[in-house]
Amino acid sequence: MLRSATRFLSLSFVLLLQQSAREQSPASNAARSSSVKVADHALVLRTSRQSFADLEVGGELAGVPPGTTRFLTRDDLLALPQIEFSAAGDTNLTGSERIGGVRLEDLAQRIGAAPTSAMVVAICDDRYRANYPRDYMAAHHPVLVLTVNGQPPSGWPKDPQEHKYDMGPFMVSQSKFTPSFKVLSESEEPQIPWGVLRLEFRNEKTVFGSIAPRGARAKDAPVQAGFRIARQNCFKCHNSGAEGGQKSGVPWAALAVLAAATPELFGAYVRDPVSQNAQSQMPANPSYDVATIGALTAYFQTFDPMEKP
Ligand code: HEC
Repeated sequence: MLRSATRFLSLSFVLLLQQSAREQSPASNAARSSSVKVADHALVLRTSRQSFADLEVGGELAGVPPGTTRFLTRDDLLALPQIEFSAAGDTNLTGSERIGGVRLEDLAQRIGAAPTSAMVVAICDDRYRANYPRDYMAAHHPVLVLTVNGQPPSGWPKDPQEHKYDMGPFMVSQSKFTPSFKVLSESEEPQIPWGVLRLEFRNEKTVFGSIAPRGARAKDAPVQAGFRIARQNCFKCHNSGAEGGQKSGVPWAALAVLAAATPELFGAYVRDPVSQNAQSQMPANPSYDVATIGALTAYFQTFDPMEKP
């Protein structure tokens, strides 16, 4: 009786050890000490999905033709060096959580075809896109979130708006956020999407080039300011061809026609969408002043097909 109890105890002790070793391994190894050599496996891109929880990767990846989709499992990602930090600056969470994951720059370095120049685009289940150009990554070091309080996505809090959606399979966050630019009324905003399914590693000139202003007024200061604002804001939900988010279903050309034909309506929509469309799902921009609305209008007008350069 005693003997089997001891055996049971020692068995559960071994299981416990294994369990806690598994739970702790990636995050705390990296956090504990830089002198501990973390096993740093080469990341092998998988050709097929192993589970719904896998991360899709695409764009321009090292060693495969551009546009190819590959997959990484959560375990593949957890085997990489992990960053751990407090969620104090993340408005998707309460702020008291501990977040763990892998830096987007680190992923670009490992699997991007252009390791030091690729931007990262995070694509969500609702076709929203968060963009991480190089200057954003250098200033804020965004992290692909793998754990919240050590838990996988099933243990994460629900979404901050409606408190009913899972925020997995992935989120992006960063340890703290101080805006590094301000253009008219628009400060730099933290890019912290949830429901992220896919990361693309892309050439920044190709992605933002698709929405560079056109025609004779392209270099005007208000047009350039509008470009900077649209690049950070509108491009998350509005697309230009294959680039940009498709959450809105309203492409750049349609915004251009509206900005050119009915600039007042366009401006009113941007500042307060519900005033123009009771069903609107678009976020309002009540802080945009006259100059900011003017800059966005001038910028979008450069795409108007009727505009003659
Ligand atoms: C978070 C997503 C999101 C962002 C960011 C966003 N929009 Fe929208 N937008 C939408 C959606 C969704 C619609 C479709 C109608 C609706 O819900 O208002 C829309 C519709 C519009 C319309 C009306 C189009 C029409 O044909 O009626 C305009 C104009 C517009 N957006 C401009 C902008 C501009 C300019 C920006 C950037 C300053 C922007 N949007 C940023 C989601 C977004």
